[in-house]
Amino acid sequence: MQNFEYRTPTRLIFGQNVISKLPGVMAAYGKRILLTYGGGSIKKIGLYDKVKELLKDFEITELPGIQPNPKYDPSVLDGVRLCKENQIEVILAVGGGSVLDCSKAIAAGACYDGEPWDLISYKVKAQRALPIVDIITLAATGSEYDAGGVISRTETNDKIGYIDPLLYPAVSFLDPTYTFSVSAKQTRAGIADAMNHIMEQYFCEDATLMNDGFCEAGLKSLMINGKACLKNPTDYRARAEMMFVCTLACNDIMSLGNSSSGWPMHGIEHALSGFYDITHGEGLAIITPRWMQHILSERTLPRFVKYGVNVFGIDASLPPMEIARKAIDATYAFFEEIGIPMHLREVGIGPERLSEMAHHVAVNEGLDKAYAPLQEKDILQILEASL
Ligand code: NZQ
Ligand code: ZN
Repeated sequence: MQNFEYRTPTRLIFGQNVISKLPGVMAAYGKRILLTYGGGSIKKIGLYDKVKELLKDFEITELPGIQPNPKYDPSVLDGVRLCKENQIEVILAVGGGSVLDCSKAIAAGACYDGEPWDLISYKVKAQRALPIVDIITLAATGSEYDAGGVISRTETNDKIGYIDPLLYPAVSFLDPTYTFSVSAKQTRAGIADAMNHIMEQYFCEDATLMNDGFCEAGLKSLMINGKACLKNPTDYRARAEMMFVCTLACNDIMSLGNSSSGWPMHGIEHALSGFYDITHGEGLAIITPRWMQHILSERTLPRFVKYGVNVFGIDASLPPMEIARKAIDATYAFFEEIGIPMHLREVGIGPERLSEMAHHVAVNEGLDKAYAPLQEKDILQILEASL
């Protein structure tokens, strides 16, 4: 078991109608709020009006229009400017992971005199960040309970995971009813994203029994509840449990004391959405079984056997390699069954830029140090197998 330090300062407020506590929570951080949101889903579900009504005694500046795979220019830059111009004291992010991730970068950039990219690219370490409160409306990323934000820079195809303990939200409101309106496409992508977060922690060199149980239960819950959400989008029980698992799946709590895997599938996916702006969870679902196939070896076999037996109930008496192959097939079959596109061509990615992407990943993601080390040629093979 590895040494670790752990602290998540975020206060979670979970359940139906918890948003009634919003004014009291915000008052602790100040009067001047930057309200950030995306392309309009929060207006359609009445959440925007509700927030404005609850916060009528506050001074609100708005940053709308944050896109999926949030962009440095204009969203982060506009947000930082608005914070400085209006002496913003706290950011309220209302939306999915993209809105919250963008708000995290804004929170740090607002307290820094230089170019915010210095912070995101780790050239300079932030000394301070504005407090962030969020109302998360999509169960997927776990951004509501972690210290990271992923920011894209279109002109360089960069998609960088910016992680700093200063970026933990101060308070996250989680009302599962706000996820009733999430489309089937985004629900599927959320299932795949959170499952992948767990797999990135599970497939590692040194894991504890406790963490394995936690991860296996999380994966099973996501598959069962995810399917239930797709069948009936207003199934409160299913939406609530999915939201709960997604929230825990990305903040390390499922792998304290495990060795790090290096998050290889995320490393590869960041190039897919960095170059082609595709939906993160779809890219992950496509990469996952191809990565598994690529790294399956005598060394990694025991992990695949455990995964196959405990997550998919594959007969433990079969030969280990057969269990592992069945486990990989079952992973693919699950994604296919819920309707996720399982080939890069289906999401608009052809063979043209695979080499360029493999090079970008090899240079920027450090996967040669991953649990199963990947060189540029390995990354290219995984991408080619995903076509
Ligand atoms: O923009 P609006 O109109 O709000 O619509 C959004 C968007 O089009 C919509 N949506 C959100 N909540 C909704 C809703 N539609 C109907 N009803 C609702 N309640 O869904 C679309 C996708 O939203 P987005 O925020 O992009 O999705 P998600 O939460 O999956 O976030 C994806 C981003 O998070 C990053 C990804 O790379 C990607 O950029 N990640 C962040 C992580 C983190 N902070 O820890 C970890 C992840 O691995 C991931 O990389
Ligand atoms: Zn992810």
